[in-house]
Formats: sequence, structure tokens, C-alpha cells
Amino acid sequence: MDSSEFREFLRSRASVREYFPDTVPEDRIRWLLDCASTAPSAGNLEAWDVVAVTDPEMREALSEAALSQPHIGEAPLVLVVCANYVRSMSRYGERGILYAMEDATIACTYLMLAAHAAGLSSCWTGAFDEEEVRKILDLPPHARPLSLLAVGRGRVAAGRTGRMPAEDHLHRDQW
Ligand SMILES: Cc1cc2nc3c(=O)[nH]c(=O)nc-3n(C[C@H](O)[C@H](O)[C@H](O)COP(=O)(O)O)c2cc1C
Repeated sequence: MDSSEFREFLRSRASVREYFPDTVPEDRIRWLLDCASTAPSAGNLEAWDVVAVTDPEMREALSEAALSQPHIGEAPLVLVVCANYVRSMSRYGERGILYAMEDATIACTYLMLAAHAAGLSSCWTGAFDEEEVRKILDLPPHARPLSLLAVGRGRVAAGRTGRMPAEDHLHRDQW
């Protein structure tokens, strides 16, 4: 893949919020995880974990916890990406909290792009009641859920969203 193909790959991804019910095969879930595990992480500690939710009742409960966003109940797979504080704080102390959140965010980005490469759609979903998600998934205290990544075969074509000019993000030498 050359650099313009890479940019086109990135540009052709968009969030999808309507899904066909077909299951994401187990070997595809493993493949997504395998891709995510190539992500960089602070100290190479990989301070992230994923709860792969496929059970329809669990997805419905997660959808409720995600402020009733229907795509969480509709997508056949919801990858709940969590920061794992223990793994990072054991080496980095308080700073490990930030590192774990960064590690998990990068892992979720890789999962989203890996899904796109596999011809699957996704939607990063950050609006949810954290305590509810903790209860539903029985998360330990050291795991903080950062994203519910809905994954599946999209029922609609991904619509491209606009962006501010990339230049507007850039500051040179000083802010
Ligand atoms: C941190 C974060 C939180 C998000 N939360 C939600 C959400 O709760 N519900 C939703 O439908 N989309 C959510 N999104 C998806 C964004 O709305 C979407 O990425 C953005 O509008 C750009 O569109 P695109 O992904 O199609 O390029 C979230 C994305 C990020 C990165």
C-alpha cells in the first residue's frame, strides 16, 4: 500500500450505526485482537483489555447503558475496550492511569481500523453510563471501560463526515 492508498483507506472509513445481524466469526474476532495487539503501549505493557459481547441480551443491556443508542443492541459484536490500570500502575504509579487510557485508546483505534480493513463497519461509542457498564460486564475495579466499539456488517453505506482543515490542528515551534 502506498501513501495515497493509505490515506484513502483512512478516508473511506466512517461510523456506521445500522447493522445486519450476521455474526462476526470467532476467527475474525481473534484476528481483530491480533491486529490490536500490534499497537504501541507505554513500556510495552499493553495496559488494555477487551470484553467481546455477542449475547443479544447483553448487547441490549449495553445499549440501554449507552443512553439507549440502538446501534449497540443492533451490532452483532460490541468490543468493550478497557484501560487496565493495574498493568500500567505497577510500573508507572499515578502516571500509569494516563498511560493505560492512552494504551486502550490506541488499541481501540487499531480495532476500528482492522475492522475496516476486514470489510466490517464499526462505531466508536463513548457516551455510556460507566457504572451501568461495569455492573453488566462485572468489571474489576482496575478496568475502566473507554469505548463500546460496535462492529458488524453495515446495513448502510458509510457516509463521509467533514473535517476542519488539517492545517488548523498544526502549531509550529510554539502554540
Ligand atoms: C471518543 C469518541 C466518542 C464517541 N461517542 C459516540 C457515541 O456515543 N455515539 C455515536 O453514535 N458515535 C460516537 N462517536 C463517533 C463519532 O460521532 C464519529 O467518529 C465522528 O462524528 C466522525 O464521524 P466518522 O467516524 O464517521 O468519521 C464517538 C467517537 C469518539 C472518537
